[in-house]
Amino acid sequence: MSVIVLTGLQWGDEGKGKLVDLLCEFATVSVRFQGGNNAGHTVVLGDEKVILNLLPSGSLRKNVRCILAQGMVIDPSVLLAEMKRVEAGIGPFSPDRLAIARRAHVILPLHKQADALSESAKDGSSVFIGTTLRGIGPAYQDKAGRRGIRMVDLVGSPEDLRSRLDVMHRYWAPQFEKHGQALPDPSEAFELCRTWGDALAPYIADTSLVLHSEIERGSHVMLEGAQGTMLDIDHGTYPFVTSSNSCTLGAPAGAGLAPSRISGVLGVTKAYCTRVGEGPFPSEDTGEMGERMRRAGHEFGSTTGRPRRCGWLDIAALRYAVRLNGVSYIAITKLDVLTGIPEIKVCTGYALDGETVPEIPLDRIADATPVYESVPGWEEDITGIRDLHELPVPARRYIDKIEGWLGVPACLVSVGPERNETIFVKNPFRD
Ligand code: IMP
Repeated sequence: MSVIVLTGLQWGDEGKGKLVDLLCEFATVSVRFQGGNNAGHTVVLGDEKVILNLLPSGSLRKNVRCILAQGMVIDPSVLLAEMKRVEAGIGPFSPDRLAIARRAHVILPLHKQADALSESAKDGSSVFIGTTLRGIGPAYQDKAGRRGIRMVDLVGSPEDLRSRLDVMHRYWAPQFEKHGQALPDPSEAFELCRTWGDALAPYIADTSLVLHSEIERGSHVMLEGAQGTMLDIDHGTYPFVTSSNSCTLGAPAGAGLAPSRISGVLGVTKAYCTRVGEGPFPSEDTGEMGERMRRAGHEFGSTTGRPRRCGWLDIAALRYAVRLNGVSYIAITKLDVLTGIPEIKVCTGYALDGETVPEIPLDRIADATPVYESVPGWEEDITGIRDLHELPVPARRYIDKIEGWLGVPACLVSVGPERNETIFVKNPFRD
């Protein structure tokens, strides 16, 4: 039995979807523990590119049990559409193959509207974050405000549901009014919730218990983080973050799993760095090299299509993420995107108050300057390479250097989008 948390070490979009899908050849349970359809995990299967926003990436394998755990916020209309798409290729879901937490919170149309209102407010009452506009923040606000609707409420007493919706709508009414927007009708929300409840009832379960019994019978479990460490509400570049604990620390609470059950943490980083939305990104390259990475790496958001900001690998930010997440091994993705760049820059520390600090000074980023080292690049196409020792020497050295800087070994290196375009150094479920 192994319980592995796979977590993004940057600002999301590290290529986690491909890795989870790949590793689910060895795991039999795949869990999402936070976030919602702000995530977009891309998995390439032959000629087809599948983007999963809510279902765990393991859902593309028939023998994998999928869990949407209670740390998530779920838009049932998006989930039902996604289930349909996956069912068309893989066959029907059954309660044995998909479980949705009773305590996961529901995203309503009202939350998406509130997200848009907050992002477009002209009265200085909110910070522009560049959210995905999927209603994530407002749904978590309602959760913390103890007026949220949970999956279990969709299938419970209609009277309770009505009164909960009433409280929620009364709370948001003044804010909609202030912005001259009509508040959605609570009775329409009620009908929608009941329809969702009818469709999803067979899957709504105590997923903490499901997970516990899977672990008791020795299953290999993959807990799949969405977004990334630097977008974590408590540990990221606040306020430019998402609304959940998107690093490994969110996994036990979000999945309903004791921390002592976790056997390893696989941290995922690109061979360079990207960010979508607003907020600090000290190693961003706004010139020709950033543009080149964007083109070569197809760096456009899989959820929103927005161009991603691109830049150099930030080892100082990764050191922080490795420490915080307790990373056991790293996976380095998109190494092929750097092919053809003669000199690769790496931020290895920050100059702050006359000295160089090894970790990103999160609360003083504005006062700090990235310190760069350069390493030689390579020209050869590496997408066909499956053994670390066959990489061009500079590419191999780049991997060695990253391992040395971070003090953790690389277990996987991805050299292209396809499942097989991967160098396996060590299998977290086997070795
Ligand atoms: P929200 O999660 O939609 O509220 O957005 C908050 C911030 O997190 C914004 O900067 C988004 O661009 C960013 N974000 C949310 N989800 C993802 C993701 O899956 N990948 C990358 N950035 C994300």
